Amino acid sequence: MLRNLFSKRKESFLPSTTDIHSHLLPGIDDGVQTIEESVDVITFLSTLGFKKLITTPHVMNDYYKNTPEIIRSKLNEVKEAIHKEGLEVEIEAAAEYYLDEHFYEQIIKGNELLTFGDNYILFETSFTVEPLLLKEVVFKLTSNGYRPVFAHPERYRYLHENTKLLNELIDQQLIFQLNLLSLEGYYSKPVQKMALQLLKRNAIHFVGSDCHNMKHAIAFKNALHHKNMEYLESIKLYNSTL
Ligand SMILES: [Fe+2]
Repeated sequence: MLRNLFSKRKESFLPSTTDIHSHLLPGIDDGVQTIEESVDVITFLSTLGFKKLITTPHVMNDYYKNTPEIIRSKLNEVKEAIHKEGLEVEIEAAAEYYLDEHFYEQIIKGNELLTFGDNYILFETSFTVEPLLLKEVVFKLTSNGYRPVFAHPERYRYLHENTKLLNELIDQQLIFQLNLLSLEGYYSKPVQKMALQLLKRNAIHFVGSDCHNMKHAIAFKNALHHKNMEYLESIKLYNSTL
């Protein structure tokens, strides 16, 4: 209760009307599971002020074998449903690629990868173990003309423990995407602390909701009232260029 008294601000602050990270295509990852749930969450997000949602289903070889075809066909289903509802919000799809051998292979083979905006490609890694291929994947993606976007760097435990690596990634100007829920302390205190540290270091380029379901959407609405949102007021985010 005390925490809420001191951390809440009256006005809600949405840093951009474009979101670049969410799981809103039904039944293909751990995000929304039905078309109804999808429409409900998208409706809720549009009431918060979002005009464009670039949704990013997981692509993870061991769990979610999503191909561009699967993602595009689900996107069409959702587009139709939100059109029927008369929603104004625009929806596009890319992907959130999990850094594993399969992803590396796809890059090497030159297979189609889903991007957004100006060839941005969103990727994530294990939360605990430093991926051996991290620098190699970033290098290969960049050499192939992609602009890799590192999803929620504040959430990786191996980065909390390895300042040297974190500094290297920042120095290399790897594009970082912050989850807004991290600023509110939704995941944990250390994640919140890291989120603030990255913002203060000017290392954040994109923000995202990483919304998986209605529970996340409601938490997200509350997060927009958190005092830490003030750190985003003066930052020029790439979201607004999309
Ligand atoms: Fe995600």
